[in-house]
Amino acid sequence: MTATESDISNLSPQGNRYLEGNFRPVSDEITVTDLEVVGSIPAALAGRYVRTGPNPIEVPDPATHHWFVGDGMVHGVDLHDGAALWYRNRWVRSPEAAAHLGVPEVPRPAEGGMFSGSGNTNVVHHAGSIWAINELSLPYELSTELDTVRQWDFGGSLPAGTTAHPKFDPVTGEMHFMAYNFVEPYLWYHVVDVGGHLVRSESIDVAGPVMVHDMGLTRSQVVAFDLPVVFNLERAMAGIPLPYEWDDDYVPRVGLMPRAGTAADTVWIEVDPCYVFHSLNAYDEDDGTVVIDLVRHPSMFRSVKNGPDEGTPVLERWVIDPAGGKVSTEVLDDHAQEFPRADERLAALPHRYGYSTGASLNDFGGETDDHTFVLKHDVVAGTTEEFDVGAGRVAGEFVFVPADDATSGEDEGWLISYVYDRATDTSDLVILDAHDFGSDPVAVVKLPRRVPAGFHGNWIPDRAVR
Ligand SMILES: [Fe+2]
Repeated sequence: MTATESDISNLSPQGNRYLEGNFRPVSDEITVTDLEVVGSIPAALAGRYVRTGPNPIEVPDPATHHWFVGDGMVHGVDLHDGAALWYRNRWVRSPEAAAHLGVPEVPRPAEGGMFSGSGNTNVVHHAGSIWAINELSLPYELSTELDTVRQWDFGGSLPAGTTAHPKFDPVTGEMHFMAYNFVEPYLWYHVVDVGGHLVRSESIDVAGPVMVHDMGLTRSQVVAFDLPVVFNLERAMAGIPLPYEWDDDYVPRVGLMPRAGTAADTVWIEVDPCYVFHSLNAYDEDDGTVVIDLVRHPSMFRSVKNGPDEGTPVLERWVIDPAGGKVSTEVLDDHAQEFPRADERLAALPHRYGYSTGASLNDFGGETDDHTFVLKHDVVAGTTEEFDVGAGRVAGEFVFVPADDATSGEDEGWLISYVYDRATDTSDLVILDAHDFGSDPVAVVKLPRRVPAGFHGNWIPDRAVR
């Protein structure tokens, strides 16, 4: 059964690659039940996989349109008792989206964030709720059926909102996140406790209005990136939707702030020019150094300003030595890759395995004939395995789901994501066995339509939501 909840087709791609191929937005919201499954969905999977991405309702100027900008749309598949019960896609009901769609606005705090937000970058769960989040804005709470419930500030002051890559401490149950701003203070660090209350805020002193997409968290330290993608007022005044660009004169640094200390205790260390969107995981070593595995881009928004197209992003290990004032770097895997993920039960703790998508970010739109791969990294053995998703098929971010939270070991579980197929112009939900990585997918859920190239998602188990 397919039902169209709304239809607002007014999108006309005019030469912007981020409006073409599978970057193109879809123009309606649908609900499809009783989905076809090839293979066997593990019965232990009880919940829903939800991913978000930009799906602009209107594009004011295709010439300046930036991939990262646009109304958020969440895409979810509900799995229970070995069946795929539904696929749903829904725009996040920001005030702008609600106005376009002609639906009521959701409740929002009077203050918080610099923008009303779009929820277009990540979907996470915390304190019993599902949150669609993006930068410079407050999160939107979603229902288990992907309806927008409200926007929320966790009961505190979030002047710059959040970033879309909070870290979840598996020991304390806290959510830690950064928030950056183009006015001072330029960088915030916040902690929300296990009950969903904002309990800590620090403004961290960086040299300028940098874009800070992610962070690192260890048992003892917070890792902050101060890298040369900087807000440009001229571009902002000219109406460029995302006025950040590379600055050759900006000194790149990484900072360590003791979790037990304050922002004033942050130790900053210079690094070679680069940009980091995503870290895989970070942890403390006994000698006082911090290890962080991350995907390093040679530069960002230097020549290509409307999307990430600046050379090969590779997996690196940085060992940050605050006492010695240096960062040593090592390439762990030189495939072009992005969207690194780990077993989040080991967040802030030493990990052995990581997973990423073998493609440069631009390939996620599916406009090339190149294969994309799912990559499995064993950082202890120093090996990387590839899983080929097939010719003309494009993998998104794969998220690791433990087979059993309490009893399964690292890497014992499944990898889940959407894979777009250019030939059929549809997408599948693909479930791989992480431990038996070379084998065929455990299950493929056939979706009757495509899921546009998006950003991040997570498995939201039933036990994680109220
Ligand atoms: Fe991201």
